[in-house]
This record gives sequence, C-alpha cells and structure tokens, in this order.
Amino acid sequence: MNTSATTRIRGGRIDDAPDDVGRIAVVLGTRPEIIKLAGVIRELGDRARVIHTGQHYDDSMSGQFFRQLGLPAPDRVLAGIGGADRGTQIATAIGALTEEFQRSRPSAVIVQGDTNAVSAGAQAANYLGIPVVHVEAGLRSGDRGMPEELNRLVVGALADVHCAPTETSRANLLREGVPATRVEVTGNTVVEATLASIAAAADPAVAVEGVPVGEFVLATIHRPENTDTEPALRRVLEGLAALGLPVVLPLHPRTAAAVERHGLRSLLDGMTVLEPVGHASFIWLALRATLIVADSGGVQEECTVLKRPLVVVRRSTERPEAVDAGFAVLVRPGDGLATAALALLAEVRQRPLASVPSPYGDGGASRRIADLAVRVASGTEPIQRGEGAESSA
Ligand code: UD1
Ligand code: UDP
Repeated sequence: MNTSATTRIRGGRIDDAPDDVGRIAVVLGTRPEIIKLAGVIRELGDRARVIHTGQHYDDSMSGQFFRQLGLPAPDRVLAGIGGADRGTQIATAIGALTEEFQRSRPSAVIVQGDTNAVSAGAQAANYLGIPVVHVEAGLRSGDRGMPEELNRLVVGALADVHCAPTETSRANLLREGVPATRVEVTGNTVVEATLASIAAAADPAVAVEGVPVGEFVLATIHRPENTDTEPALRRVLEGLAALGLPVVLPLHPRTAAAVERHGLRSLLDGMTVLEPVGHASFIWLALRATLIVADSGGVQEECTVLKRPLVVVRRSTERPEAVDAGFAVLVRPGDGLATAALALLAEVRQRPLASVPSPYGDGGASRRIADLAVRVASGTEPIQRGEGAESSA
C-alpha cells in the first residue's frame, strides 16, 4: 500500500493521518451500485478500495453480485445500516465513513447513482476535503417526494467531478449552476455491465429454472410509491395479472415484506415468484421476455441495450431517454397498465427496437470514469473547490 503521513489541521487540531496516496475509495451500498460500478472497480485494479455501507445485506442482494461479477469481496462492510430508516442509514454511514477516511485517507472517493450510500459517501468525503467523483450524475425527476431525488440534489451540490451519462443529464447540472468544467459526459456504465451479462447469459448455468414456456412478462418492483401502501401494491399486482401473460417476478425484499404486510399474497397466485436473481440470470430472463414491467432505474437503461420493450410503472422518471428513444412507456398510477403495454407491443412490432441505438453510450464509460478518477486522485485533473471544502471535521 502506498501510504504516507500528512499533517493537516482539523477544527483547530493538528493530527497525523496516514494518506492512502493514489487510492480511490469506491463507496457502494445496494444491488445496482455493485452492478454499475463493477467495471470501474475492475479498471481501477489495485487502486480501488471498496467500502460497502451494508445497506443491502442479503446474499441475494449483495454477495451473489460480487461473486458473479468476479469482484473481490469489499475491503470493508459497515455495520448498523441495513434495514434502518433513511436518516439513520445516512447518518450512521457518514459517521463510519468519516472514521474510515480519517484512519486511511483516500485521494478521491467515487459514488454512483442516488441511494443513501451515495449521499453518505459524498458528504463524508466532502466534509473531509476529499474530492468526490459522482458516477451517473445529473439525473433529475423533479419529484421531491422520491428519496432518490433528494440524494441526487445533495450529491449534485457536493461532487467535484460529475460523470453525466447523457447530454440531458449534463444540461440538468448546468441549469443548476454546476460549472461546465466539472461535468464530463461519460456514458452510463450500465451499457458495459449489460453487455457483459448478455455474454455471461450464454452459460447454461445462468438459466433460470421453472420459467414458463413461450411468452411471458418479466417484472421487478420495489419503489416505495408502489409498495408502501396496500392500494398502490394491489394496483401494480392486479395490473400485472391483467396483462394476460404469465408473469415472472423476482421479488425485491422490500416488496416481499410489503406483500405480507398488506395481506396480498393471493395476488401472486399463478405468477412465477423468485428470489432476487443474479445479474446474468436477470438478463437471461429479460432477453426471453415478451415485455418487461418495472419501476427500476437500472432496468430503464438496460432495456435500451437489450432492445426489449419496457413499461415503467412510476409517477415520474429521471430517465427520459429510454422513453424518448421508444424503448419504454411511462405508466402513472391511474393509467391502464394493460392498455399501455398492448400499445407499446404494437408499436415495437411496427418499429423493431433491434436497430435503435442505446442513448446511454458505447460501453466505454467505466474506463473513462476510472481514468478521470485516477487523474483526480493524482492531482492532475484541476478541481475547483467551493468555499467550505477547506473545512474539515
Ligand atoms: C434502495 C435505494 C433505491 C434503489 C434500491 C435498489 C435508497 C433511498 N433507496 O431501495 O434507490 O433503487 O435500493 O434495489 O437508498 N432489505 C432486506 N434485505 C436486503 C436489503 C433490504 O431485507 O438485502 C429490506 C430492508 O430491511 C428494508 C427494505 O428492504 O426494510 C428496503 O431496503 P432499503 O435499502 O432501505 O431500500 P430499497 O427499497 O432497497
Ligand atoms: N436485477 C438483478 N436481479 C433481479 C432484479 C434486478 O440483477 O432479481 C438488476 C437489474 O438488471 C438492474 C439492477 O438490478 O441492473 C436494478 O436494481 P434495482 O431495480 O434494485 O435498483 P434501481 O436500478 O431501481 O436503483
């Protein structure tokens, strides 16, 4: 390890903290962050120090992705965060990450997306004056009822380098006053993650058993807006049943708990309900599905690489690109899911998706982001620090 000691002043105290010079801490906490940061971690190689906040903790939501994606186990897993409420998750993670970064100070911190892990990672790093690189920056739904939108605004204010996946997300950041010099359009790492899992899905070991023969719908649901109340979850499950096709439903733990809590287990009768599956298996299912129905963020991007039609069951989306390109249709509460699904299927029969390019890039985002982070960590990428970045603990 490339470690040296630097004297720095912290809130009037002078202390000697070991610098993990050139090391880049990658802070992640949930399933999609593991999938989308796998390529960046691989590109960084020995420079990466992976810190898992423990927000997702079941093997089916965390460990299986590290194994399947060929990643080493995280260098550190934080305690006391998984299953806690939102404020506790963020506060506990900021405290633990602050200790971690003080014990061994990385030269830069990478966070991805919009989860509580992202908010905590960006805050802990920024308050210690460590440069923050935000992957998948600049997405905005405009819906402040979504916890993720608030996390996006927090990291948008704190990040030093914003890796915007598309020109649309770059424009969102510029509109909020982020200097253009701090924004780089890198593409979304989901493209290479999906391409890798398409290749992995050729392995018969990845095939999912018990899937209906012939046409089926693949669904994944977990947003609070679709799970927290009985009427909302009932609406989605009844909407799925009304599609008139067999439904395959790998169940997110939030949704599994909500089904029990709201007494809706009977609505799953007739559906193929699975534990959360690994990424290659999910892609295996998606490639065979007639239609995908999801409230997932990542699946909205993946459908553009898989060239599969998607119905997004949400009141808003921060990912307009997939809808604009014709891969997806947004179905808000009160809209008819079955009507929208039939219209989308009819449209893609007229205008097949196979030749429509993904708006999320060329599959080189992970390499661009890793290169950028290395330049930031080595001080060769000029970073304009705002007032306040100087103050530390
Ligand atoms: C979180 C993210 C969301 C992201 C999703 C990816 C926030 C605010 N939300 O939502 O943006 O789309 O992850 O899947 O950061 N649980 C388990 N086992 C697990 C993980 C969670 O049982 O391995 C349970 C928790 O105990 C909790 C519920 O699922 O009761 C929700 O987990 P949480 O991480 O708070 O939010 P997600 O809905 O997973
Ligand atoms: N996914 C998976 N197994 C599943 C369901 C989803 O590997 O059983 C993948 C999916 O392909 C996508 C990611 O998980 O890459 C999306 O995660 P999720 O929907 O939990 O979070 P979001 O993207 O909404 O933040």
